[in-house]
Amino acid sequence: MAVLRRASAALWLLVVAVTSSAAYGTKVPAIFVFGDSTADVGNNNYLPGSSARADFPHNGVDLPGGEPTGRFSNGLIGADYLAVYMGFSWSPPPYLSLVAGSSNGSGGISEAVSITTKKTIGSAASLRGANFASGGSGVLDSTGATINMTKQIEYFSDLRNQMTARLSADGASALLSKSIFLISAGSNDAFDFFSQNTLPDSTAIQQFCEAVVSTYDSHVKTLYNLGARKFAVVDVPMIGCCPYWRSRNPTGECVEPLNHLASKLNGGIRDLFGDLGSEMQDMNYSIGSSYELVSSLIEDPQTAGLTEVKSACCGGGRLNAEEGCTPSSSYCGDRSKFLFWDLFHPTQATSRLAGRAFFDGPARFVGPVTFRQLAEA
Ligand SMILES: *[C@@H]1O[C@H](CO)[C@@H](O)[C@H](O)[C@H]1NC(C)=O
Ligand SMILES: *[C@@H]1O[C@H](CO)[C@@H](O)[C@H](O)[C@H]1NC(C)=O
Ligand SMILES: *[C@@H]1O[C@H](CO)[C@@H](O)[C@H](O)[C@H]1NC(C)=O
Repeated sequence: MAVLRRASAALWLLVVAVTSSAAYGTKVPAIFVFGDSTADVGNNNYLPGSSARADFPHNGVDLPGGEPTGRFSNGLIGADYLAVYMGFSWSPPPYLSLVAGSSNGSGGISEAVSITTKKTIGSAASLRGANFASGGSGVLDSTGATINMTKQIEYFSDLRNQMTARLSADGASALLSKSIFLISAGSNDAFDFFSQNTLPDSTAIQQFCEAVVSTYDSHVKTLYNLGARKFAVVDVPMIGCCPYWRSRNPTGECVEPLNHLASKLNGGIRDLFGDLGSEMQDMNYSIGSSYELVSSLIEDPQTAGLTEVKSACCGGGRLNAEEGCTPSSSYCGDRSKFLFWDLFHPTQATSRLAGRAFFDGPARFVGPVTFRQLAEA
């Protein structure tokens, strides 16, 4: 079953690739993805008993066959579109799907490595890189109960060791230095902090942001020391406007203190990468702003072809956001008109817009260079 699900998502990506990657034609050797449910393509399917899973209907309803894959979406997510725009026909697979099925894990990893390092493009050989993201996780290891960021990076380090063994140290570091390291994290840290402190004072906010930014700093440095040079960062979205928080606000409007928190975190993340860029001359980075993207879609949904930016497509209760999206939930007919799929996550339509905006959109959405320029650097 799991294989079938992955295969159908892959098929769909091949279809997307034929129509778009030829147009972009950018090539990087591999993409390694880290972060939370905004980037998870199925790692949490391998966490027995976790409540942070999406491998059940109605997730995946717009993938061929309507099969769930573990993506928190009706279809594809931003990481999928970015992989395609960067010239791949297949989004990097969940790391745990590569190590599953081998009791000691090595069989799956070496398969991933051999595929990662093959020169030929086409069919399964075009699968390059791996996705370590895990829904529920944060920048802080204490956030969530899934695969924390330190563990995601440890998994990457295991894969890198296999690559080094196969390619030589120089070969592996050459490949990694040209690869994209996509990181989409921070929302869950903000959610947790805000849920625990509904009226935090400015000192508490300051301390929280400093803790997140300094932890982000150490994760990026660890990745750098493992050979990462190109960082594609997705910032914290306008989380106060997600259906979950709106449904808890008597007015149904966005929860502004949460947006301020996200905005402050994003300022810290931007400053951090600015500093890292001057400290480490051979690294490059680009920050895609989910925050600005959501903000622009709420300001002007029509231009983007959306009609509903407040309620979730799938769920229950007020704004369809008092309950998560489950097999018994009702869901909207025209997913392409909704900003949000469920109480927290964007639809495929929104993810496509985000992917395009970060890949080669205007400065409001991505900077100091675009993801495309980062890939080509
Ligand atoms: C893992 O399992 C494979 C196949 O059973 C075996 O050949 C290999 O030596 C094992 N590797 C380790 C590190 O135990
Ligand atoms: C991070 O994950 C690792 C591996 O699951 C775990 O041992 C560690 O305790 C976690 N860290 C925190 C702070 O929860
Ligand atoms: C990459 O980093 C180098 C060194 O900091 C810088 O000169 C160059 O402009 C950067 N290029 C891109 C596309 O970010």
